Amino acid sequence: MTTTQPKLIIHGGASSLNDKGGLAKVRPILHNIVTEVYQLLNNGGTAVDAVVRGCQLLENEPSFNAGTGSVLQSDGQIRMSASLMEGLNQTFSGVINISRVKNPINLAKYLQDESDRILSDMGAMELARELNIPIYDPLTEFRAKEWIAEWKDDFQSKMGRLFASTESNEARRGTIGVVALDSQGKIAAGTSTGGKGLERIGRVSDSAMPAGNYATAEAGVSCTGVGEDIVNECLAARVVIRVGDGLSLPDAMEKSMKESKKRDRDLGAIALAHNGVISWGKTSEILLAAYHDGSTIGDTLEWQTEELMGHC
Ligand code: GLY
Repeated sequence: MTTTQPKLIIHGGASSLNDKGGLAKVRPILHNIVTEVYQLLNNGGTAVDAVVRGCQLLENEPSFNAGTGSVLQSDGQIRMSASLMEGLNQTFSGVINISRVKNPINLAKYLQDESDRILSDMGAMELARELNIPIYDPLTEFRAKEWIAEWKDDFQSKMGRLFASTESNEARRGTIGVVALDSQGKIAAGTSTGGKGLERIGRVSDSAMPAGNYATAEAGVSCTGVGEDIVNECLAARVVIRVGDGLSLPDAMEKSMKESKKRDRDLGAIALAHNGVISWGKTSEILLAAYHDGSTIGDTLEWQTEELMGHC
């Protein structure tokens, strides 16, 4: 039986390195996660297992805006969204705006085999209770202080407004994601987020939509950036479907990024193709991604050129 060389790419969002302790802190975090998850693939683990494990590790890392370390919404609550897509059968599952769980990706994994595969807020939390998933508070001191600083003037003058600030905020580009190709040649993609930060209650992130996370037998993509921009481009599905229609992954990524750039979008994406090509793209300034191509680990942390994409 022929086996495929496994490949892996992960991301920790498209926001600044400054609030994450800089390159010296983020690089080992991403490289350690890539190393652990690649080992799983090398030992015959499936793409779905690798994506779930990678998302768990990234959700557990407080530097990133997903799981522990998620940003707070306009009302001071954390609501997280996560999705998982298995490429061969094209099965998408996810949770939208769930609170008080440690790993939203675990619920997305559970929902892969259910007939109702995308659950939002109350339904997602009902499921967590049904599965006896322990209650967990993902709030970190850094995020609490960030939110208090953002709303300080409001608290001094009147009750906090329950709508999103219009000002740009680094948290708005944070998300985590993993795309894996396993030794059976199967692809899976997963994405998880705390959202934009300060958003209106009920706002739905791209991360649990095919716009932000999509996979087929041919390719898989996980996105990061401003969710509304990603949805407007339907970015993940756009790149993947272009590969299905015959474009190479680098060409599909470049074409999609050029279009996004023309429309002034603020986003990034990581991707893998069935032939083993790893690709990444961004219109944002930064993309915090790392990959394993079977022999070496690389990353995009010092990628500051004007180029919209790269691949290996
Ligand atoms: N891309 C994450 C969000 O906008 O919610």
